[in-house]
Amino acid sequence: MYIYNCNTQEETQNLARALSEISTSQDIWALFGTLGVGKSVFSRAFIKNLTSIEEVPSPTFTLVQVYEAPSFDIYHYDLYRLKSAEEIWELNIEEAFAQAVSLVEWPEKMGPYLPRDCFKVNIVSLSQDRRRIEIEVKSEKKKNRLLKAKIKPDIIDDK
Ligand SMILES: Nc1ncnc2c1ncn2[C@@H]1O[C@H](COP(=O)(O)OP(=O)(O)OP(=O)(O)O)[C@@H](O)[C@H]1O
Ligand SMILES: [Mg+2]
Repeated sequence: MYIYNCNTQEETQNLARALSEISTSQDIWALFGTLGVGKSVFSRAFIKNLTSIEEVPSPTFTLVQVYEAPSFDIYHYDLYRLKSAEEIWELNIEEAFAQAVSLVEWPEKMGPYLPRDCFKVNIVSLSQDRRRIEIEVKSEKKKNRLLKAKIKPDIIDDK
């Protein structure tokens, strides 16, 4: 697991931007963490860094918003209001996973359909402004890609 300490919102945004720059199509960023912890802050910085979009609306009601980046589309999901895991098939998730980059808030709502080889990002609140961002990924290639990002992990926990 890679651990990043983000002591301000700006540091979380910097990390999201750095990760957007190592992202390639078919990447899935599963953003775990409690209500209001920073999943949307992360997503907006990621999307804005790769597109010319100025306002990134929250897909709370639409469940998904799609953006065009130069090398791939970005599908931004907020699954908080998903009623069942199966409902995910109505949201073009297969297309997203097959050819785009996916940012998924509340990925636990899709239960068994979250692919195993995704980047699992867990945002933990330590205080009002401090977050610990833990990233886990199974594939060695993806781990190496993470280490190429401009921002390096503060801790590498290989247990
Ligand atoms: N270090 C930090 N990183 C990210 N957000 C921070 C940080 N410090 C404070 N914040 C604040 O935490 C809030 C995060 O809100 P955000 O909407 O991103 O949460 P969320 O996880 O998407 O919530 P929801 O579950 O409702 O979708 C914002 O108000 C932001 O300003
Ligand atoms: Mg959100």
